[in-house]
Amino acid sequence: KQQGEEFDYEVTAQQGSTEFFEGIPTDTYGYNGDLLGPIIRLQQGESVDVKITNDLDEPTTFHWHGLEVPGDIDGGPHGEIEPGASQIITLEADQPAATLWYHPHVHEATAEQVFKGLSGMLLIDEPTDSGLPNDYGIDDIPLIFQDRLFDENLQLNYKRLMDIDGTMGDISMVNGTLDPKLTITEPVMRFRLLNGANARNYTFRLSNGASFTQIASDGGMLKEPVETDTLTLAASERAEILVDFSTMTEEQSLALIDDEGAELLPFDVELGDSPVDSAELRTADEPFLSEQERAMPVTKKIELFGMAEMVTINGKTFDMDRIDLRQERGVTEVWEVYNKPDMMGGMIHPFHIHGTQFKIISRDGKETAPNEQGLKDSVLVEPDERVKLLVTFPEKGIFVFHCHILEHEDNGMMGQVEVY
Ligand code: C2O
Ligand code: CU
Ligand code: CU
Repeated sequence: KQQGEEFDYEVTAQQGSTEFFEGIPTDTYGYNGDLLGPIIRLQQGESVDVKITNDLDEPTTFHWHGLEVPGDIDGGPHGEIEPGASQIITLEADQPAATLWYHPHVHEATAEQVFKGLSGMLLIDEPTDSGLPNDYGIDDIPLIFQDRLFDENLQLNYKRLMDIDGTMGDISMVNGTLDPKLTITEPVMRFRLLNGANARNYTFRLSNGASFTQIASDGGMLKEPVETDTLTLAASERAEILVDFSTMTEEQSLALIDDEGAELLPFDVELGDSPVDSAELRTADEPFLSEQERAMPVTKKIELFGMAEMVTINGKTFDMDRIDLRQERGVTEVWEVYNKPDMMGGMIHPFHIHGTQFKIISRDGKETAPNEQGLKDSVLVEPDERVKLLVTFPEKGIFVFHCHILEHEDNGMMGQVEVY
């Protein structure tokens, strides 16, 4: 906080212009700049005053995805800030260290505003003695993955490019860059991966097939680190991974690739002589779920259904004036989310709840996979799959829950829970 200022951070949504292609300006949106936004980094337990300003010429909201804040500052569809207006809000990081993010949530315009560039990361830091790489930009790298489609004038002409089942691009970007490359100078790197796409799922691998270690999911550390060579994130999901480059220096063209083998992020490995201190990976002693939690009855049922413009939750489309569910603050309930197939089989829906970090109890009755044994705020639900979630809201207010395919959300695949 600068002297005389009554806020610690300033986040302004504004119009800008980005040169994705040499010599050709593309109209974009950004926070405090032309594209994407600054990283907001909070210490656990810290509380900061943030001045949010809308310099766009349309309404927007500022949603802190994954942060457990009261409903009135959550920035859902009720939180519209008119063009030219500002507000000062207090964000409190009263939850475990995690990789979260922020983006607009205007009713029926979320997908377009995100597509044009409004997204940023919000990190809650663990104490610095955690033993994990946490040197921002050196061995701790946030990576936002998004796909984009440009029109013949190389513009992000959303209305013309959009697909009602989720706008997918043929060009992939990392942190807003079309031709990304990352120089690796430290043997053990921590990547904070965010699937910031409107709709696409990303499956990550290393081009040499090597394994890496997933340490965190959406809302913080996993119960135990998981070694894997492939990781899928649906829209809005995050994961933190550790990659040990000390064993792969001889590899010439190392990259993070997708499941089709396309390069998402090539690496230039230039390791110095810094010793490999393998991060101490802690594991929790308690089980991920207690016997009691496992045995809790389902008290809320969610049915996801449909495709394109015909998307519903429990048979309804979103109504800003209708409360669909009520839950008491601090009281844990079991939500059962079922993705009901249609005649064509249906499609994947990533289901997200505001204002909470939940646990996945089971998928179709099967125990939670090790890489989902952590706090989550979004969950990929396959057609005909039934997922049970353990949900507690620490704050009061009205929160939305929705499919995070942003076009589905804008088409009304969203409901509201009032936490009292
Ligand atoms: Cu990423 Cu309703 O939000
Ligand atoms: Cu959210
Ligand atoms: Cu959906």
